[in-house]
Amino acid sequence: MAKADQIVALLKSYEENDETRFLSVATQIAAHEARQGHKAVARELRDLIDTVKEKRSSMSFKGSAVPIIRPKGELVGLLSASYSKSRLRDLVITSTLRERLDRILLEHRQRDKIQAFNLVPRHKILLVGPPGTGKTLTAKVLAGELQIPLFSIRMESVITKFMGETAAKLRLIFDAITQTRGVYLFDEFDALGSHRNTDNDVGEVRRILNSFLQFMEEDCSTSVIIAATNHPSLLDNALFRRFDDVLEYSLPDNDRIIDLLTSSLARFDTEGVDWSVIAEKACDLSHAEVVQVAQDAAKNAILLNQEKINTKMIISAVAEKIK
Ligand SMILES: Nc1ncnc2c1ncn2[C@@H]1O[C@H](COP(=O)(O)OP(=O)(O)OP(=O)(O)O)[C@@H](O)[C@H]1O
Ligand SMILES: [Mg+2]
Repeated sequence: MAKADQIVALLKSYEENDETRFLSVATQIAAHEARQGHKAVARELRDLIDTVKEKRSSMSFKGSAVPIIRPKGELVGLLSASYSKSRLRDLVITSTLRERLDRILLEHRQRDKIQAFNLVPRHKILLVGPPGTGKTLTAKVLAGELQIPLFSIRMESVITKFMGETAAKLRLIFDAITQTRGVYLFDEFDALGSHRNTDNDVGEVRRILNSFLQFMEEDCSTSVIIAATNHPSLLDNALFRRFDDVLEYSLPDNDRIIDLLTSSLARFDTEGVDWSVIAEKACDLSHAEVVQVAQDAAKNAILLNQEKINTKMIISAVAEKIK
């Protein structure tokens, strides 16, 4: 039987969420049992340990040294981490945008080559455009394609939650950017600009802005830093200059609307649907709204036990969105 101190160590490592220690204590227990001559129990324990290790390693990204990451210590509350499965094919965008994203991905995939000449892959990227046009999705796609974690930072909440110490918090985030390769998404980036107009925040916002500019200037990590905004007019020109790329998102044109609808409804029978009539009616909708239209039409068909989705059903879903 395992000794009491081994069980205590096992429970402690469980409580501290220290998986490496947990498995090392378990290995010690297996060795102890083997020494006692309890061969069957020792083998069973070793098999279980191997299974756990295998499962864990298949959960981390293939070919990547990045472990499963959760923000720790002071980073809790500043960043949220996730892994993304999104791929370029999930994004419906113009060919110009597509080429710009392809170039970012290529420079990151070939970063060893680039770094050998003391250059860095383009990695400071500003995404500008109306709500629901794929800015957040782009950050997910870059993380998914490069198989690195996605860290999201909601600027608005960092600024309001840490008033007075935002610049110090930004330093922590930029330290993490250097230490852990990932896609870092500064969402609601215009929050920096909008706070500038409230009198008592002026000094603080100037400080935050200056710190941000300085951190951006100094950064030569291989992480991807993305800032996303709906209101570029609120941003300083000095900020724009710090980015390697500024990508502009806009509402989908007719072809893009049709792409979004057909890919969202790929599992349904849509034979005979007049896509161009629908696209014209949906011309003021964002990508996100078009996807919702497709989902609404699909749910209606399912609930009515109808196998086919027709033009009328999709148009009535569009009409509901426009209302
Ligand atoms: N370009 C796109 N291609 C495919 N799907 C899209 C696209 N844009 C948006 N969508 C759909 O809408 C959802 C929401 O989009 P997303 O969060 O990327 O918008 P956003 O531009 O970040 O909006 P916001 O400015 O409000 O943050 C996505 O998860 C996706 O389902
Ligand atoms: Mg977004």
